[in-house]
Amino acid sequence: MFDLPSRPRRNRRTDSIRRLVRETSLSPSDLIWPLFVIEGQDQETAIASMPDCYRWSRDRIVTEAKEAFARGIPAIALFPAIDVAKKDSRATESTNPDGLLQRTVRDLKDAVPELCVITDVAMDPYSSDGHDGLVDEGQILNDPTLEILSAMAISQADAGADIVAPSDMMDGRVGVIRAALDDTVNTDTGILAYSVKYASAFYGPFRNALDSAPREGNKQTYQMDPANAREAIREVELDVAEGADIVMVKPALPYLDVLAEIAATVDVPVAAYQVSGEYAMLRAAGKHGWIDDELAMRESLLSIKRAGADMILTYAAFTLAAQL
Ligand code: PBG
Repeated sequence: MFDLPSRPRRNRRTDSIRRLVRETSLSPSDLIWPLFVIEGQDQETAIASMPDCYRWSRDRIVTEAKEAFARGIPAIALFPAIDVAKKDSRATESTNPDGLLQRTVRDLKDAVPELCVITDVAMDPYSSDGHDGLVDEGQILNDPTLEILSAMAISQADAGADIVAPSDMMDGRVGVIRAALDDTVNTDTGILAYSVKYASAFYGPFRNALDSAPREGNKQTYQMDPANAREAIREVELDVAEGADIVMVKPALPYLDVLAEIAATVDVPVAAYQVSGEYAMLRAAGKHGWIDDELAMRESLLSIKRAGADMILTYAAFTLAAQL
């Protein structure tokens, strides 16, 4: 025998010891389940690029959300698939009090009042241009977009959303939305800011699910450059100063360094979004039998928590919650 001063393997010897020394854990309480809603009754359409994910009609969303809450998932994030005939350059449909999203929020709050409902504040699912801001001759206009976003946030809060989540990356939107919510006595409605959102290739399957890809150009003048980390601190500090209750980093796995730095810097809770492309890659490899995607999914999500996320948006939430 060698006289080794330290044998780290002793702490890995049995499952009991491994459980005792484990630093990070995943629980259903950490998870937010993103859901795509469509018009109709008892409708379910598969999303080719997102195995095991569906677009569901409102009644089905309510059933699934009820079950998710029973499995211990505290929150869902809603994304509406808007009929192309209802899309226009100003995202007018986004403030319709009887719009698909608003009706879904009301149904959910009636059926499962304790479930936290998070709504997405961004023009793209409603925009005929497929951008998160107002387009004028190829330019994305910042301040005119803020007026549209604040009206959208008020409409979602009035419908009963617990938290509104601006995902557009316009400058100043958190402050403008906070003021608009306060003016309309929606002081209890929280803001989850997509503070650090990169111009990422990993959003492809999501845009496919909502048919929301930009009709022209890309999102690089408002979403962040994947090469930058310092800028992430600036974005987060601005959003916190403007009133964000929770900040987010998105995507998650390719940006764990940024996530860790943000978690160490801010004193508000930090969310991370395991986006559609991250999800699709794992599921696709799993379907091919190349990896065990359930294990790889858990490992990915654990890594995201270990890096500092307090909560994770993941399309795997429902399946995973049943296993945890
Ligand atoms: C829209 C929005 C996007 C996602 C969430 N909200 C797409 C985009 O910015 O183009 C992506 C989520 C995912 O890929 O899972 N503002």
